[in-house]
Amino acid sequence: MTEPVNASLTVQHHVSLRSLNTFGVEARASTYLCITSVDQLTALHNDAVLSKMPRLILGGGSNLLLTRDIDNLVLHMANLGMAMVGEDSDHVFVQAQAGESWHGFVEWTLAQGYGGLENLSLIPGTVGAAPIQNIGAYGSELADYVHTLHVFDFVSGAIVELSREDCAFGYRDSVFKKALRDRAVIVDVTFALPRYWQPNLRYAELAKELIDVNDPSPSEVSAAVIAIRSRKLPDPAVIGNAGSFFKNPVVSDAKRSALLLQFPDLVSYKQEDGNYKLAAGWLIDQCGWKGRALGAAGVHDRQALVLINKGGASGQEILQLAERIKEDVALRFGVALEIEPVVI
Ligand code: EPU
Repeated sequence: MTEPVNASLTVQHHVSLRSLNTFGVEARASTYLCITSVDQLTALHNDAVLSKMPRLILGGGSNLLLTRDIDNLVLHMANLGMAMVGEDSDHVFVQAQAGESWHGFVEWTLAQGYGGLENLSLIPGTVGAAPIQNIGAYGSELADYVHTLHVFDFVSGAIVELSREDCAFGYRDSVFKKALRDRAVIVDVTFALPRYWQPNLRYAELAKELIDVNDPSPSEVSAAVIAIRSRKLPDPAVIGNAGSFFKNPVVSDAKRSALLLQFPDLVSYKQEDGNYKLAAGWLIDQCGWKGRALGAAGVHDRQALVLINKGGASGQEILQLAERIKEDVALRFGVALEIEPVVI
């Protein structure tokens, strides 16, 4: 059922979100709007009814677990466009609209000859969603390259420019998960890419993948990242999933030392502040969960950090599996796992 509100907004009701979340779970939106231009956000702001509804903003649905039908207004950000927008002596500035596919954008930058984003190849989702959790992989994260971004502020109805500092990026974290969570939506992101590019091969597995390539180009690094990811991570188009389902927990030096006495193979990485990040995948694997399932919700057999929909799983089933895993990890290691995707 569709109902035109004005020239530029088409509201839909009872819309299935199954194809709009990468877990592929069923959930319906009572009210749904596909946003393809900033003008539509202004129209929404000026609409007496829609502007007062609580919102759920959807990009690629790749960092989301839906456990129920949605009464909120679902805003599906689908505005498109990519362009080089400026340069200085050290950088090229490229901008993408929120609805662009992240990987599509990375490929476009590489095709233009701009390096920088290659370590973040093949991450599912959209450009507009990427800053929310500050996507990261293989020794690189989005925050390293964000220059500025624009948000639509639902309170003032204005477009506001934010700097990288304004975004308060952290490990899988940003201001968009906190103060701006219900207030603003990202409409475009501008990246500062280096003119004088150097490969970032700090991540040992990536360096190993490229051992036989002399002086790798950005595209060669991208190909290596794609090869590693494809070996370990399920393709959401084939097996429903949302990437890492838990954050890698950070513990004190003392806690890590105590764990090492009991578990000499513990995988950990030292942080700048002296704390240690533990590999949650290793902890879950040690608890025997890799490849196991509870009903239609399962743990991927090549990477225990990824929960999968084996076919027809509900969001509730996936959440129940996550809770069981959290209990086991807490019992065995005394470590609290934190769920990474947004759970609705
Ligand atoms: N491990 C196991 N068993 C497993 C999984 C992992 O023993 O089932 C061990 C691995 O052998 C390795 C360590 O745990 O020694 C770490 O595994 P991996 O290198 O695969 O990385 P990760 O810590 O599991 C993180 C990110 C990924 C990112 C990779 C590569 C988080 C929550 N996850 O995974 O990000 O792609 O590093 O940089 O930080 C995502 O956020 O959705 C995501 C996929």
